[in-house]
Amino acid sequence: MTRKKILIDAQTIQRKVTELGRQITGDYQDRRLVLLGVLNGSFIFMADLARAIDLSLEVDFLRVASYGNSTSSSGSIRMTKAPELDLKDRDILLVEDIVDTGTTIAWLRDYIASHEAGSVRICALIDKQERRQTEVEIHYPGFTVEEGFLVGYGLDYAEKYRNLPDICTLTP
Ligand code: IMP
Ligand code: MG
Repeated sequence: MTRKKILIDAQTIQRKVTELGRQITGDYQDRRLVLLGVLNGSFIFMADLARAIDLSLEVDFLRVASYGNSTSSSGSIRMTKAPELDLKDRDILLVEDIVDTGTTIAWLRDYIASHEAGSVRICALIDKQERRQTEVEIHYPGFTVEEGFLVGYGLDYAEKYRNLPDICTLTP
């Protein structure tokens, strides 16, 4: 049996998303902003974040798969859905649910940079630091968490729990 416990409640999440949206709005005046969400985990965060940004912007998604077990990524990454917008000269903001080892987001940052984007930055709802292996700058971090496996607000365990309104810790 698994137990889940609320770590960050829905209201606290919304306050943080509003704050991130305000920062991004200030930083991307007169830029060509594309919010590029990493599926599937970013879908709820992306929907709220996009509405917290008061700018003309575009939205696109990509998806990656990494080989490994279900609670950590292995470092071997491939893209299973590429972005469809032309990224050239655009100001790309990668929107990710959680950065754990950093392998996925570092790989994506390099992928985007190699497609001649004007700029690439990273917004991650959760910066989980304990298992970081690849140093990567997260320009817009939501919450910093030391450890634990989190579900809810888009985050899954084996594709479940994404629809929980709060972010919860899951313990076996
Ligand atoms: P990284 O490459 O190790 O940084 O892995 C990032 C990906 O692993 C995230 O996009 C999530 O899909 C998944 N992941 C890492 N930690 C968690 C967690 O606590 N809950 C749910 N998914 C996680
Ligand atoms: Mg993910």
